Amino acid sequence: MYSSSWSDLAVCKKCGADLFQKDANIVCVNCGEDHSSLQKWFVVTDGKLLDDPSIIGQISTPSELSIGPVKEFYLPAIQDAGIKLDDLRILEIGSGVGNIAYGFSKVAKPLVYLATDAYVQLLDVLRTNLDQFGLTESVGWVAGLNADLEIALQPKKFNVVIGHSVLHHVLDYKTLIKRLNGLLDTPGVMLFAEPLRDGWAYFLTIVKLILTQSDIFQISETSKTILAYMENNLSQRITRADDREFLSTLEDKHIFALDDLRGLASRKDWDFIRRN
Ligand SMILES: C[S@@+](CC[C@H](N)C(=O)[O-])C[C@H]1O[C@@H](n2cnc3c(N)ncnc32)[C@H](O)[C@@H]1O
Ligand SMILES: [Zn+2]
Repeated sequence: MYSSSWSDLAVCKKCGADLFQKDANIVCVNCGEDHSSLQKWFVVTDGKLLDDPSIIGQISTPSELSIGPVKEFYLPAIQDAGIKLDDLRILEIGSGVGNIAYGFSKVAKPLVYLATDAYVQLLDVLRTNLDQFGLTESVGWVAGLNADLEIALQPKKFNVVIGHSVLHHVLDYKTLIKRLNGLLDTPGVMLFAEPLRDGWAYFLTIVKLILTQSDIFQISETSKTILAYMENNLSQRITRADDREFLSTLEDKHIFALDDLRGLASRKDWDFIRRN
């Protein structure tokens, strides 16, 4: 049922039609566009990937540490949604170099694992890592996906969407969630793990305290500069949460309140709750 060709997962970026393998090439059945140049790791947005991962310090190296979250958070939530563990078809956005894919490779046997990221430099590393995890051809795929753009993937190929600390980087995260929901099979589930405003607000209070009482805390000038930067960054992301132009200049954009995401999940008009 799951062929080893990526043309089965993707659609034409120009017109949205199916792709097919023609000799060594991958071609659109409708407009004839040739997509073969992208076979190393395919690109499933309109091609505008990002090329300066100043964000790289935030990306976890795959390790045993990701097994816990997969076992204790992702798998139970997936089963809770009515999905059988022998039918896991996972699309991960913002995979970095495969932290969460590693956890899945250790505790489950996904039929499809499409790991994606927006940064060109990460994709080759991601491909190498997936091979090392045993998520090789026909199970583990790597694609370039800038989550702020259109997504050229076949609907209903995936029943699980995962984003591990990614949504807060995506300017139009609501549009993204809506698009991903349109791709999901039934039953299907989307799971996002994000830093929350409530936790950071507590941290911010402590930072403010340290900065205003610096004679008592006696911290170095370097530490003071770092804390002042964090205070400014977090305060601005909270007070300017609706300022798109400002957010677009930041790598870490949104700092979600719990209800921002819970509210979206319960929107009736988006048809989120679909069970077999
Ligand atoms: C905090 S890191 C988390 C990486 C990985 N999920 C992990 O757990 O190690 C955020 C990831 O989101 C990716 N990212 C940032 N902006 C993105 C966008 N617009 N579309 C897709 N991915 C993006 C980054 O390249 C990075 O890999
Ligand atoms: Zn086409």
